[in-house]
Amino acid sequence: MKTSNSPSFSGTATAVACSNIAFIKYWGNRDAALRLPANGSLSMNLDSLTTRTTVRFDPRLEADVLILNGESAAEEARRRVSDFLEIVRRMAGMPTKARVESENNFPMGAGIASSASAFAALSLAASAAAGLLLDEAALSRLARRGSGSACRSVPGGFVEWQAGQGDEDSYARSIAPPEHWPLTDCVAIISRAHKQTGSSAGHALADTSPLHPARLRQADENLRRCRQAILRRDFEALAAVTELDCHLMHAVMMTSSPPLLYWQPGTLAVMQAVRAWRKEGLPVLYTIDAGANVHVICERAAEQQVAQRLRQIPQVRDVLVAHPGGAARLESAGESSGYNVNSQT
Ligand code: DP6
Repeated sequence: MKTSNSPSFSGTATAVACSNIAFIKYWGNRDAALRLPANGSLSMNLDSLTTRTTVRFDPRLEADVLILNGESAAEEARRRVSDFLEIVRRMAGMPTKARVESENNFPMGAGIASSASAFAALSLAASAAAGLLLDEAALSRLARRGSGSACRSVPGGFVEWQAGQGDEDSYARSIAPPEHWPLTDCVAIISRAHKQTGSSAGHALADTSPLHPARLRQADENLRRCRQAILRRDFEALAAVTELDCHLMHAVMMTSSPPLLYWQPGTLAVMQAVRAWRKEGLPVLYTIDAGANVHVICERAAEQQVAQRLRQIPQVRDVLVAHPGGAARLESAGESSGYNVNSQT
């Protein structure tokens, strides 16, 4: 059997990973190159929003190739993937370039972030194809180098990314499995437009906001409150801390220079509706990433009612429904068959 140290190594592997939604957000880096975050964060994997990625190392290739949803990717995206594959090649001690084919199962251009599921799936597929047997922590650490939030899509269920001191201890682990709490994320699509400032560029602006230090001062306490609310399945407590941190992050974004203003009128319409519904007694909360769409999270029993009410808001173009999802998993691996990330922890 060829090993990854062989110059003609041609391993292949396919992996699937879920996207995730953060209750406590990652915003700002202490070290942008290593993607060491300014604060710890906590999220839930989303089972129906997934990326499936196949990596094939091919000694005949002169450059890495990236096919996204059946089409050749833009150079910027190809370069980001290629830079990431360089890390994997260094770890495996081999020079071989790769062909990467990646598909999202959620509508392209829905304005839903895909870097978390994309880099989690790529980390698993690329490392397995290269013959590296990484445990879950090492895989999460690797995914973090591609996209910070991707490290949280490696473990399953409800996941905490500890900020850590350096590369070694900055990775994510599960605090509860998907079945721990039957929540639903109804993603209210307000805009399908590509966001003007992506997260990577946004993180670099966090330090310019006078409110950033204030958010960071209470980050550990908010993380603790959020972890406790999830472990106790306390929806009211989860709503309070999730919306607080969402507002804090967007306050940092809005007060950066230049300012980042992601909300649209429809975003605010959904926020206000959700607050009114909660007053009526519905277990529902919202959170918003670097875009206009709103993640409306409720207890499973309220799912149909919440989705239906959201669809009646004129600015809501669509509602995508997701439940707590599992860990990144390998579907098949050529040279490394039999490898399962879950059995390595
Ligand atoms: C607002 O992980 O997308 O969604 O590391 O540059 O790829 P990069 O950033 P990314 O940032 C996520 C920002 C967020 C909050 C979160 O998911 O925690």
